[in-house]
Formats: sequence, structure tokens, C-alpha cells
Amino acid sequence: MAEIGTDITKAAALLNQQQLVAIPTETVYGLAANAFSETAVLKIFEAKNRPSFDPLIVHTHSIENFTQVATAIPDQAYQLAEAFMPGPVTLLLPRSNQVPLLVTSGNDLVGVRIPDHPLTLALLKEIFFPLAAPSANPFGYVSPTTAQHVNKQLGDRIPYILDGGACKVGIESTIISFADGEPEILRLGGLALEEIEKVLGKPVKRVKTSSSNPQAPGMLSSHYAPSKRVIIGNINQMLQQYEPDKVGVLSFSEEFAGVPARQQVQLSAAGNIYEAARNLFAGLRYLDTQPINIILAELLPEAGLGRAINDRLRRAAF
Ligand code: TXA
Ligand code: MG
Repeated sequence: MAEIGTDITKAAALLNQQQLVAIPTETVYGLAANAFSETAVLKIFEAKNRPSFDPLIVHTHSIENFTQVATAIPDQAYQLAEAFMPGPVTLLLPRSNQVPLLVTSGNDLVGVRIPDHPLTLALLKEIFFPLAAPSANPFGYVSPTTAQHVNKQLGDRIPYILDGGACKVGIESTIISFADGEPEILRLGGLALEEIEKVLGKPVKRVKTSSSNPQAPGMLSSHYAPSKRVIIGNINQMLQQYEPDKVGVLSFSEEFAGVPARQQVQLSAAGNIYEAARNLFAGLRYLDTQPINIILAELLPEAGLGRAINDRLRRAAF
């Protein structure tokens, strides 16, 4: 198993030696390596079993640093960065030659993000390179929101996990592409569409999911999935079709009679969408360990972070 701790000096030393370190962010834990080192970045793909056509997001600590990794940055990108960074958003910008093509899987755009977590920001200031980091989970599985989640699945493949506690947003960053200079949302996430549109003062296009889009596997129809089968619908109706003591239930706030309490997860008893996002992945992971055949889940109201939560649930169920 990996060592878990809060030692930034140790994490920096490992990263300087081209090693991997799991890092906390406000969204989910990342599996980080020196973004400028192909040797280090290759280890990420190995540890995650990640196909090399799936590009990595580059993490840095300030907007000034964007010019290290990106060029020809559009004004609207700066506008969003000023408004929301550090925060749960990633901008896809024209790649600078300093960034190895391995990081972007050959794409002309590079994903750039400033994570909003004090430990990781301190770490980024301690080292002299940005960090390439995907979510710290095996490819296709639910993202980790605690150091223990990371340790359970990747602990035997990495030396160190920087422990920053439970992630306060709990769902991956919203990805905004500037492929043609205009913003387009590739992945809904921790920053709500409404907030983005408010800052830009106009509607923003959403790229539709495709099961065969190799540019963004995070948009694959099946992704973010637990091992148990997830079925989405009206939970009360579904409980009439399935044996209640053999199912798991993932609801927004309601409890269901007949289903054992330990097989139920309420994302937010108070019906708070932020709390629900924070609990989503831990809830799916928990139900995955229960003696059940399937997980019955319901969608949340389709607004704000509810859109991103529903997006993850649909992919988990596909
Ligand atoms: O919140 C997050 O974004 C977390 C934390 C660790 O920062 N990271 C994360 O990374 O979720 P990952 O690799 O699990 O998901 C990033 C998604 C992938 O689906 C990838 O295909 C897409 O972003 N992506 C990254 N760089 C890209 C690029 N240059 N072009 C197109 N898609 C890109
Ligand atoms: Mg991921």
C-alpha cells in the first residue's frame, strides 16, 4: 500500500524524481506526474491502465503560468479563468510545444486547470513544473474523493498519497474547449453551466456525448461506473420489480421502506445539491461493497450541479 500523509516536501521530492504522487483537489483526487517529463507521464498511463488516446489535464497554480503550457489564449478563456480559478473548471487551450504530445494524446489543445486545494496549491508552488493528472482511479471506474479510495485501488502502484481530506466539490471539473476560439462545454462538472453563461453573458454550446468519440473518453457513454449494475428510474416503481432486500438504492434525499438501511444512500437528506455532489462517488463506491445485485438510482433536478450529477449517473448506468 502507498504511504499516506501531508508532507509536501516529500511529495515534491518524489515528483522531482519522475515518480507518481496522488494529490487532493476540490473535485476528485488526481494521479500526478511532471507534465514536462514523458518518462513520468508514461507511468500515469501504466498505473491507471489508461489508453494512450485519453489526454491528461495539466495543473498549475496561477493564471500567469498558463503561458508555460498554452499559446494564443482567447480573451474569453482569460475571462473564465479570472472568474473561476482556482476552481472546478478546465480550459482546453492551444498547446505550447513544451507540453509533450503524450499528455494531450496528440491533440492540438491542452487541458489547463488550477485546483482549489491548499495542499496541492502549496505543492505546485514548491516544484518548477506543472502536474499532469487524471482522476486517480483505474480507467472507467468511479473517481476517488478520499485518500483511502485512492489507496484501495492504486495503493500498490504508487509511493505516496497526499492526504487533503474529503473533496469538497466531489465531482470532476467542468471542461470548456476553445477549439475554434469559442467556448464549448465538453464535460459538465463542478462548475455549473449557468455560472459560466452568466460570466460570458451568452448561451454556451454543449458538445453532445458520443460513445465513439476518442478525443474525450470522459465523455464515453460508459464511464465513471461501479462494478454493480446501475439502473436509473423511479425508485418506488422499480422496487415493485426487484426484490427489495437484494438491491441497493441511491436517492437524492428519500428513504425507502423494505430496503435494508445499510443498502441505501441518501445523497443529501436536506436536498442540497452541493452536498449531493460531494457524496455521489463515495455513495456509489459504498453500494458497490454491499451484498446486492443491482443499484437503483434516481436522477436529480436537471439544473446547476444536478446536470453534472445526472450525467455521471447516466454513464454509470450505461
Ligand atoms: O476535476 C478534474 O478534472 C480531475 C482532477 C484530478 O483535476 N481530473 C480529471 O481528469 O477528471 P480525467 O483525466 O479523469 O478526465 C479528464 C477528461 C478526460 O476525459 C480527457 O479525455 C479530457 O478530460 N481531456 C483532457 N485533456 C484533453 C484535451 N487536450 N483534449 C480533449 N479532451 C481532453
Ligand atoms: Mg477520470
